[in-house]
Amino acid sequence: MTKQEAKQRIEKLKKLINHHRYFYHVLNRQEISDAALDSLKHELYQLEQQYPEFITPDSPTQRVSGKPCQGFEKIKHKIPMLSLEDIFSEDEFRSWEDYLKRLVPNETLEYFCELKVDGFAISLIYEDGIFIVGSTRGDGKIGEDVTQNLKTIESIPLRLAPEAPALSEVEVRGEVYMEKKDFEKFKKTYANPRNLAAGSIRQLDPKLAGSRSLKFLAYDLVSELGQKKHSDKHRILKELGFKTDEGIICKNRAEVVDYWQKITKKRETLPFQIDGIVVNINDNNIFQKLGIVGKSPRGARAFKFSPEQATTQILDIKLQVGRTGAVTPVAVLKPVEAGGVTISRATLHNEDEIKKLDVKIGDTVIIERAGDVIPAISRVLPELRTGKEKEFHFPRSCPVCGGKLIRPEGEALWRCSNSNCGARRREFLCHFISKKAFNIEGLGPKIIDHLITEGLVSTSADLFELRESDLLPLERFAEKSARNLIEAIQAQKEISLARFIYALGIRNVGEETALDLAEYFLTLEKIQKSSIEDLEKVMDIGPVVAESIYKWFRQKRNLELLKKLEKTGIRIRIMNYELRIKNKKLRNKKFVLTGSLESMTRDEAKKKIRELGGEISESVSKNTDYVVIGSTPGSKYEKARKLRVKIINEKEFLKLIR
Ligand code: IVH
Repeated sequence: MTKQEAKQRIEKLKKLINHHRYFYHVLNRQEISDAALDSLKHELYQLEQQYPEFITPDSPTQRVSGKPCQGFEKIKHKIPMLSLEDIFSEDEFRSWEDYLKRLVPNETLEYFCELKVDGFAISLIYEDGIFIVGSTRGDGKIGEDVTQNLKTIESIPLRLAPEAPALSEVEVRGEVYMEKKDFEKFKKTYANPRNLAAGSIRQLDPKLAGSRSLKFLAYDLVSELGQKKHSDKHRILKELGFKTDEGIICKNRAEVVDYWQKITKKRETLPFQIDGIVVNINDNNIFQKLGIVGKSPRGARAFKFSPEQATTQILDIKLQVGRTGAVTPVAVLKPVEAGGVTISRATLHNEDEIKKLDVKIGDTVIIERAGDVIPAISRVLPELRTGKEKEFHFPRSCPVCGGKLIRPEGEALWRCSNSNCGARRREFLCHFISKKAFNIEGLGPKIIDHLITEGLVSTSADLFELRESDLLPLERFAEKSARNLIEAIQAQKEISLARFIYALGIRNVGEETALDLAEYFLTLEKIQKSSIEDLEKVMDIGPVVAESIYKWFRQKRNLELLKKLEKTGIRIRIMNYELRIKNKKLRNKKFVLTGSLESMTRDEAKKKIRELGGEISESVSKNTDYVVIGSTPGSKYEKARKLRVKIINEKEFLKLIR
């Protein structure tokens, strides 16, 4: 981005952020999520850091929230109440750490991490141990006197603990918040507990504040009471009679990231909402030495949980051709963090979606990622357009083979009509070897690409004809790896009927339907010979799916493929454990056993798991669902912990199979 472009982008970002702030804070309407707005602010902040000459006093990054409102007395903070700069990933943490190391090269950095409660910051002043005045943060320099309201909060001591040293003035800062359970009844009227806590403190009737079961968590001791470390502050605050978060001292980045990940998981089970952890340089001297930039201390960061939404730019729109010929547009994104992972692609689904979103190449968009769902674009921000954005035109011919694209009436997808299309063949092969199909260990899309380019494989049957000597000349293979792959392919020659049907990649036949067909017909021959009516007799199979299956088995090239597969020696079997598996409790669950069980032998346990539809594997991977540990578990236990796979003991296992 040129300097001029950065300047324009900054202007546009400021305008857009202000627009949404106005909507949210003045009109009480929310057009985009907090996370998306934060993401825009983050981009603005980073651009401004890069080009500080473009920082203006009216920039949202310079704004300190909440002007004092009429009706409360103004209180000037002796020391400004600052706020924290956000980081969202280990990478951003690393950049911060590198920056600090440049500033204080001779210091060993130790961190104190604590929960970042999603509430409302306040300052409390005690004189001779007595609570005298409490104020909001206001603009950071001047806040509002909300002493009467704060006095209704039971966790704020009105007198410091008697054993605390008598001091003329003590200032404590922390967060007023509301527990999730108390928030329940206000859910309809307030967006979140933070808004409600803020609203309750900044209203004029203390009775109302008193009725709202607010709590206070102290996180900063401003006065000097001999603390050398941030951890000392927490200890002293506790001694003074405040509730504080335990926190944890971390010796290095790895420990901080570990804690952050742990809290990310624990977050839901906490009684109050948090939006991250706060990481402070533990040594107060170093913290002071690092000083302040803008309105934030250099020595602390809010290490927030990745929001599931973020804003980024579309660099390009590419087309992907799937195994059934479906052409899906995919947005290539400027990489951005959302929901804990870096996202660089998002599906645009189909041509209509592109039109509906009115998305252009170069646009800034809001992307969303929930759970394991493929990231999608939820909204375009046309306000940030520069005029250089490019319209995307959906082609009428396949981007891979040039074949004609067709879009049957009533369907949203364009499909490549050439069944010999290279992309379709590749995708089919990848599907064929995938976990739920032939599940060939050590064989993935990269090797498939290699085998195709070398002309070694063109149909799935070719895989079974591969010899070690075919692989050896290839760059990525040595004797051992070539042997392993051939063995892995040969080992999968015996396959269950359901997996085999699924592997064929018949349109509309997923894992479930494949199982239904296997259970109903029991042999491939019977499925092959079935009429559409026969197929429709299977529960859950309707006319569209039935027609698709019927047609598949009537196409010459498919019948040829079946013959070829048969010739390679593939044995299709009805596996006992797959029969009537649909309603089985442990269906598709992958187990690893380690250590010995008291109530049964390992073989008995395996049998039981299989009977209930589960699968056993010898080694722990991230695909493992449960690791069952008996006495003296081996290294699998450690691996499971590392990969955060669910670990269960014998008692829990027995409960599961009961
Ligand atoms: S330390 C320099 N610690 O998060 C500001 N803040 O922008 C010192 N917050 O305004 C803040 N939990 O309202 C700190 N354990 C914690 C916190 C915490 C919540 C809030 C606070 C602050 C904002 C950060």
